[in-house]
Amino acid sequence: MKAPFDLIADRYDESRGGTERGERFASVIADLFDDEGPILELGVGTALVGGALAGHGYQVFGMDISAGMLSHARDRMPGRLALADVCRLPFRNESLAGCYAIWMLHLASDVSVALAEVRRVLRPGGRLVVVPASNRPREDAIGRLMFAMQTKLLGEQSQKGGADELLQLAARCGFTLAGRRELVQSYQHAPEAMAREIETRNFSSLQDVNEQQWHEIVLPTVAALRALPDPVKPIDRTTVHEAVILTPAHAG
Ligand SMILES: C[S@@+](CC[C@H](N)C(=O)[O-])C[C@H]1O[C@@H](n2cnc3c(N)ncnc32)[C@H](O)[C@@H]1O
Repeated sequence: MKAPFDLIADRYDESRGGTERGERFASVIADLFDDEGPILELGVGTALVGGALAGHGYQVFGMDISAGMLSHARDRMPGRLALADVCRLPFRNESLAGCYAIWMLHLASDVSVALAEVRRVLRPGGRLVVVPASNRPREDAIGRLMFAMQTKLLGEQSQKGGADELLQLAARCGFTLAGRRELVQSYQHAPEAMAREIETRNFSSLQDVNEQQWHEIVLPTVAALRALPDPVKPIDRTTVHEAVILTPAHAG
């Protein structure tokens, strides 16, 4: 069976900041781990970040549920990848110095089970770093239209998966907050490029949109993007993400 990200694997890098974003995120993640033991990226995707972190000298492994995404990761992390579900990690108890997850933990079928798995594989003293999917509105013309579309499509669900929700769940699963760090992503994006990404459903949240939602919510958003002034000209965009650092109770 195909995983949702298989459908967008070929277009993922170009639409999610490419290797430049990988390097930027990797340098923040590198600061949060020492380089003394193996670390694992949960939902490594195409290894934009994991590959860059390996380039910093870290012993990084990656796992993902999408074979399509992993096929793009292979050259970046050869011999260090596993096709698996985050709710069933193919690692021994207390075998890893750290785990991190970028824009993925909310995608687990049961986040509590995924957190229990992370606790199981972390060594005492290990930590989990989570960069939740950003659900804050963005202060640019594209961001405002996208936020409005997601809110209409997903309702309350669109607010899910953020840092506050994660912290509540993590506390219930025996993790303690050890710190928070901002990751700022500045980039340029043209309204026309975003319109095309929407039309080709290059976001996992658009894959299950029904016919009526497509006509009443998605297509008007595409039209509004194309109605912005000079839609082929890239505009400046900034997204502020947050890295949440968690330690399991047994780490003291
Ligand atoms: C938004 S992408 C993020 C990829 C990567 N972390 C990055 O920063 O580019 C989310 C990834 O999580 C993976 N994923 C979704 N559900 C998963 C699960 N249950 N177990 C493992 N990986 C999963 C997807 O296949 C996808 O590659």
